[in-house]
Parts: sequence; structure tokens; C-alpha cells
Amino acid sequence: MNQLLDELSQKGIRVSAKGDSLTIQAPKGVITPEIKQLLQINKKEILNSLIEQNSEINLQAEVLLEPQLYPQKQVVYHNHQQVESIFITGVTGFLGAFILQELLDKTQANIYCLVRAKSHKKANQKVKHNLDCYGLWDNTYSSRIICILGDLSQPKLGLTENDFNDLAQKIDIIYHSGALLNWVCSYAALKPINVLGTHEIIKLACEQKVKPVHYISTLAVWESAAYAGKIVSEAEPLTHWQGIKLGYSQSKWVAEKLILEAHERGLPVTIYRPPLISGHSQTGAWNTDDVVCRVIKGCLQMGSMPSLDYLLNLSPVDYVSRAIVCLSQQEESIGQIFHLNNLQPLHWESFVDWMRNFGYKINLLAYENWAQELNTIKSCHQNPLSPLLPFFQKRSSNGDLLIPQQYNCQRVPKYSCQQTFNVLSSQQISCPPVDNKLLNKYFIYFIKNNFLSTP
Ligand SMILES: NC(=O)c1ccc[n+]([C@@H]2O[C@H](COP(=O)([O-])OP(=O)(O)OC[C@H]3O[C@@H](n4cnc5c(N)ncnc54)[C@H](OP(=O)(O)O)[C@@H]3O)[C@@H](O)[C@H]2O)c1
Repeated sequence: MNQLLDELSQKGIRVSAKGDSLTIQAPKGVITPEIKQLLQINKKEILNSLIEQNSEINLQAEVLLEPQLYPQKQVVYHNHQQVESIFITGVTGFLGAFILQELLDKTQANIYCLVRAKSHKKANQKVKHNLDCYGLWDNTYSSRIICILGDLSQPKLGLTENDFNDLAQKIDIIYHSGALLNWVCSYAALKPINVLGTHEIIKLACEQKVKPVHYISTLAVWESAAYAGKIVSEAEPLTHWQGIKLGYSQSKWVAEKLILEAHERGLPVTIYRPPLISGHSQTGAWNTDDVVCRVIKGCLQMGSMPSLDYLLNLSPVDYVSRAIVCLSQQEESIGQIFHLNNLQPLHWESFVDWMRNFGYKINLLAYENWAQELNTIKSCHQNPLSPLLPFFQKRSSNGDLLIPQQYNCQRVPKYSCQQTFNVLSSQQISCPPVDNKLLNKYFIYFIKNNFLSTP
């Protein structure tokens, strides 16, 4: 049914449910007798499917922390120099690799890393290979990295009861960066890793002895329409969830609420909310599989970019990882939330201009036209945008806007990061602006690594 709805939407036909009748809007001449018949035959299924899409999951009702899950013993705050054992998730990913390296550099601790792998040998190779890819590996790290084979989506992270308890006894502090980042999966598909995985991390933190949890959230938790156009500071209570569009953002909202609930029960937690994370500000090293890189490459293949009133809020990964580790080492950070947005983002259309000045030939198209153009890459698997088509072409539940248009400047909040700034300014850590210098670094990296060809 979703395929049929997608096909209708690509022809410019909008179907919406009003009670138990179907409303159809289409440009003149588009509805052929065949399409009319198709709509008549499938009316009931289309209605059911639309109603299902429209019914929002009650995210608040998803915030379910086991009733008996309380930190049992009093917290001993370690001086960060004395922390002996750190536990971290997500080190085979982009941000996790940089946090791991920063922790290896800034502490003396052994670092226990949760890794999905078949054997310890494969897990070690996976971690080393990932750090190597981003130019971070140093052979002296090996002796301090201890891989724990496990899976966030499994009860007790996939460990046996004994192994889980041993780990809970051994570690002093937790950094939780692991998650499934996906722009097209539903909340239900992401819940096991992003929500239930976070629940198991809280369990690990409460078991045996209490461990502070440093949780990597996202600014996408503010996607509810209730915050549109408002200034949201780190102190703003995270209450609204209605209207959060993406399954990923929904899952991160619920996961963060679990962390906040655990904090209310006495668990020491700190929450970090980055915007989109971009490449290293000096080396340019970037996860080219992420959505921004896919859009850049995919659009260059198409020869066109969409016109959007959108602010490209990118924080380089070296800033985000340094900020997280530095903030986590301040005792006063416990119980705090930190926004890691860029104070000098770039408007999307200035970015398109920059790419043109760099030498690429790009047409700027009205978003609706560009979304139509995307149909030409449907069967073209070489275009990195093809797995993301539902994200770029799906309409909001009331049918007015395509999803990316809902991130237009007036529809998102303005982020304040005063709290972060107050702490980091005295530590000489600041976020570089998204400017010519930074973009040059990134495009030189893309070209050097054969991700893009020269203009
Ligand atoms: N990247 C961004 O622009 C951005 C922006 C804001 C917030 N964040 C947040 O920052 C954190 C890190 O993001 P990232 O960009 O580093 O993501 P990433 O590159 O996709 O890495 C995700 C990490 O999570 C691990 N993971 C996924 N499913 C797992 C499972 N079932 N069990 C164990 N580990 C699992 C992955 O392991 P495998 O290697 O086994 O897949 C990988 O190490 C996430 O919490 C994300 O929500 C990211």
C-alpha cells in the first residue's frame, strides 16, 4: 500500500482521509480512468493505511523505566584523573571513534567498548579499523581498549547475567554514544536499539554500584511543532513530543526521557545534544555515509540542489568530542544538559552558492521540482540518495509539505548553548564557524578520498 501511495504522490496526486471518506487532489488531467479504478478498488486499504500513518505514537507513553530500577548505593564521584575503567558504546561509529580517542588521550583509564562482533579478535580489528579510517589510531592504544561483545538491542546488552554484573562492578563511568541513525526507519524499527538499548545502559549504571552516565542525545529532540521559532535553552524542560516527524528523532526523544527519568530517581547523568555532526575541522575526516554527505554527492550526480530556507547547523566532530569529554570531566556537569550547536551556521542557499564558487555546476530548483527530479534516480543505486527517497519525497500527515520543508527556519527552534559556552570558553574549546575555510577542508577531503570528483 505504501508503494501505491508513493506512486500516487510522485504523480502529484494527494490522497487524504476525512473520516471514512477519501479526499483526492490532483493536477488537471493526471487522474486517468485506470488510476480512478485503482483508487476505487483500493479505497479501504488506502484509508486504513492513511489512518495508520496519521495516528501518532504517544511518545510519552513509551517512556517506561522498570519500576524497580533505582540506583542502590550512594554515588562516589571520582576525580576524573582517578577513573580506572570507562565503558563506552558506539566506538565503531563516527562520533564514538573520536570520543574514544579523546578519552584515551585525556585519561589513564582502561576503556571497555561494547562492540557487535563474532569474536574478540574481530571486535578489536573493527575498532582499530574504524579509528584508522578517521586517522586516529595509535598502536599504544591497544593495551587500554577492552572489547565487550554485545548488542544494545538485547536484554542486558546481550551479556550473560554474570558478565553483566562483573562489568557493572568493574566500570566507573559510562559514555553512551551507540545508536541506529536512520532517516527512513519507523520508531518501531529503531526502538530496540535506541530506546531499549538506553534502558539497558541505565540498568548497567544502577547495578552493583552507581555509575554516572554521559548520554549522547541530539538537538532533534526539539522537533515538536510546539518549539517552532522559539529560543530553546539547555534549561528548557523537554515536554512536547507531538509532531516529531522522524522515527529516529522520536526514538531519541523517548531515550532521552528515560535518561531524565533515571536522573529523577537519583542516577547521575549528563546529556549532550549535538546538531548534525560534520568532519574534523583540521583533517576534514567525515563519515561520508551520513545524510549531509549523501545529499552533497547525490545532488552533484543529479546536477541540481533543492532550494530550502534551511540553516545548515554543522558542528565538527573534533569540537563535539572534545566538548563532551571536557564537560564530562567537570563535577558540576552532573545533572546538566549541554547544547553543542554551531553559533555560526550557514544558510542552505549560501552553501549552494559556495559549491558553485568552488566550481561545481548546480541548478537550484524549487523543492517540489527537485523532489520530482528524484524519480529519475529511483532505480539508480549508484546515487547515494536512493535509499533516502522516502525521507525526501514523503509528505507530512496533513499532506501540505514534504518532510525536509518542515525543517525550514520558521519551523525549527533557535538553539541557545549558553550553558555549554559558559564552561567551554574557559577551556579554550570553541566550535569553528561553517565558513569558507571549513568547507574548503571538507571538499578537499572528499576529493582526496575519491568521494567526489574535482569540479
Ligand atoms: N552523526 C550525527 O550527525 C549526529 C547528530 C546528533 C546526534 N548524534 C548522536 O550521536 C551518537 C553517535 O552517532 P554517530 O554519528 O557516531 O553514529 P554512527 O556512525 O552510525 O555509529 C553508531 C554506532 O552505534 C553502534 N550500534 C548501532 N546499533 C548497535 C547495537 N545494536 N549494538 C551495539 N552497538 C550498536 C554502531 O555499531 P556497528 O558498527 O556495529 O553498527 C556504531 O558504533 C548517536 O547517539 C546519535 O544519535 C549524531
